[in-house]
Amino acid sequence: MMFTTALAEDAARVQTRLHAALAGSDLPLLDAMRYATRGGKGLRGFLVLESARMLGADAERALPAAAAVEALHAYSLIHDDLPAMDNDDLRRGQPTVHVKWDEATAILAGDALQTLAFELLTDPAIGDAETSIRLVAGLAHAAGANGMVLGQALDMAAEVATTQLTLEDISRLQAGKTGALITWSAEAGAIIAGADPTPLRRYATALGLAFQIADDILDVTGDAAKAGKRLQKDAAAGKATFVSLLGLEGARSRAKALVNDAEAALEPFGAAADTLRHCARFVIAREM
Ligand code: IPE
Ligand code: IPE
Ligand code: MG
Ligand code: MG
Ligand code: MG
Repeated sequence: MMFTTALAEDAARVQTRLHAALAGSDLPLLDAMRYATRGGKGLRGFLVLESARMLGADAERALPAAAAVEALHAYSLIHDDLPAMDNDDLRRGQPTVHVKWDEATAILAGDALQTLAFELLTDPAIGDAETSIRLVAGLAHAAGANGMVLGQALDMAAEVATTQLTLEDISRLQAGKTGALITWSAEAGAIIAGADPTPLRRYATALGLAFQIADDILDVTGDAAKAGKRLQKDAAAGKATFVSLLGLEGARSRAKALVNDAEAALEPFGAAADTLRHCARFVIAREM
């Protein structure tokens, strides 16, 4: 099966689980939450499912955790697009939540998607209570002031900084902004399967960085119709990115090196890791 087909199948399955958690009401807030959780690639949810599968766990057990990270990611995108942050009007080919509804709805839909994520992690289908606690603690750490929110804060600060960020600064920014959730996703599959998450952490740390470099490259060279979001915004906003620091070619070769690192981390798993290998190559070849 083509990797993109496998990814789309898992994304649909995760979305169905997520929407089951949001069923039963047509309140505008729930409508906005459903809207914001449609149409993404589903990469983070896929990583949860595939890591669990590779390590011999039933993907059904991992499904609530996959839905959780996609809910949390959707919240991060709703807030990222707000006027106070990136001020974007297009996401996944559709108007952003604050454009379609209003800012208050966007803020609250994001808040509620974030808390839903943690509720999903307590689903007894995942396993025992200790497994859930490890997942909750890990996601809280990855999403918060040491992870995604930190990365977003550094990203905002870089817009108004008077000095150029170094490669080290940008790596720290990206590791938080994108890396933390991607790393949690791959580790979650291992935790659910009762396996050592260390090799998958190595894999996903490299993958996450490659993913954000690809996002920065797409911002410069991508096609907005394919990406489903406005491009050419980072330079205009004075964002510090791998492209602003390394140039396009430098960023491309750094991303390729990271994909090699990611693949190297999968060696202990042999052929069972082939889908995760495809995933690493997909992350830097994608157009959306
Ligand atoms: C976009 O993430 C935002 C970043 C963290 C760079 P994705 O590219 O995974 O977005 P969707 O979920 O596929 O829309
Ligand atoms: C968004 O990064 C990262 C998070 C939402 C955590 P970007 O601002 O680069 O993402 P896009 O380019 O808007 O998708
Ligand atoms: Mg942003
Ligand atoms: Mg943005
Ligand atoms: Mg971007």
